[in-house]
Amino acid sequence: MTLLTKAQNHVRPAALRMPAFVTRRMDEHHVNRIEQLMGGEHVHVWKRQGPGAVMLAGNDYLCLANEPALLQAQVRALQGKAGQNLMSAVYLQAGSRQHRLEEKFADFMGAQQTVLAQSGWAANVGLMHSIAEPGVPVYLDIMAHASLWDGVQLGGARAVPFLHNNMEHLQRQLNKHGAGVIVVDALYSTDGSLAPLHEVLALAEKTGSVLVVDESHSLGTHGPRGAGLVIAAGLEDRVHFRTASLAKAFAGRAGIITCSSRFKGYFLSESRPAIFSSCLLNHELAWFDAAIDFVEQADVRRAGLRRITEEVRSGLERLGYCVDEGSEQIIALEVGTEPKTLVLRKALENRGIQGAVFCAPATPKNRALVRLTLNSGMTKREIAKLLDACADMRDEVDLENWTSTVRRRRVH
Ligand SMILES: Cc1ncc(COP(=O)(O)O)c(C=O)c1O
Repeated sequence: MTLLTKAQNHVRPAALRMPAFVTRRMDEHHVNRIEQLMGGEHVHVWKRQGPGAVMLAGNDYLCLANEPALLQAQVRALQGKAGQNLMSAVYLQAGSRQHRLEEKFADFMGAQQTVLAQSGWAANVGLMHSIAEPGVPVYLDIMAHASLWDGVQLGGARAVPFLHNNMEHLQRQLNKHGAGVIVVDALYSTDGSLAPLHEVLALAEKTGSVLVVDESHSLGTHGPRGAGLVIAAGLEDRVHFRTASLAKAFAGRAGIITCSSRFKGYFLSESRPAIFSSCLLNHELAWFDAAIDFVEQADVRRAGLRRITEEVRSGLERLGYCVDEGSEQIIALEVGTEPKTLVLRKALENRGIQGAVFCAPATPKNRALVRLTLNSGMTKREIAKLLDACADMRDEVDLENWTSTVRRRRVH
């Protein structure tokens, strides 16, 4: 008789018992949040959309994902004979494919050097903990991306938040805590607002602070040849570090940091994601090599995205949606509580529109929202469908009482 183990029989084992310190937290999610607060529904699980639906949840702003030139570059790399380096980037030798691509990105971004990371998250965490140590105040716009805060925590530095885009508050915090690191996103990922880069830089220079600008949502879409907002403002020689996720307009999986050559040498022996996680793969590098060439030439798509952004934003404003805290291709429909966000999600999905729900920990608890990300390929029909849906659902979603609507009423 042969004795087969459960695994050989493909029988899934029962869940192991876990101690209370884990089960309590799982219950907070499954019982308190999903069952009790949301009536058994998961806020992120959208109804499957049929053909003709308008998908506004991703960040492929310039519609690169299916570009034949990029796909072919990737396929060639996969089929090629070059061996794959399955090791940490620390061990890459001079002239390696990654190093050559980092030089190309440096030219594209007008930087002395760049370092590629496995993701935008790895770039930000690695950078922040490499420049911020215990005792160093790190001034973060409250809407700066979570990965930047995580890096501060890993470095044991002191996170000092300042109100979104509020330079007076930043100045007051700097007066109180002294020179440190100032961190902003060039274009904020939840509401599409822009950082006042000139003013932030003036405060950084006045106080002798380091400036970090996350360009995840502006690299590729903004600036000459898509080189970003720091370049558009002519500040590339004065901003210490720019970072970006390349999983947005570059439509791949990686992150990047601009820096000096000297800093790069230090970073590769300090950044924990760079040291303790393996490097990018050949086909990923090949994608970005081709993507830089494509993005540089994509002025028509950038102009299309701008036009679509203006049309959708002004259409939503006319319908009474308060979206003027942002100005770019990311639009926040800020409802407030999570249960209200669920009502909005259903109203959208029933009308063939899919966005992304943002709630805690991505937003403050009572500022949950549905984020719509526009792309350069949106057709007239899709724009009309989105605006018709938004016109039709206003009472159903109780637009009058959204936090964003109430805030606007209070201001005016
Ligand atoms: C502003 C910003 N920075 C960094 C990241 C992290 O990028 P990635 O998804 O490549 O890890 C994101 C992604 O959500 C982002 O929006």
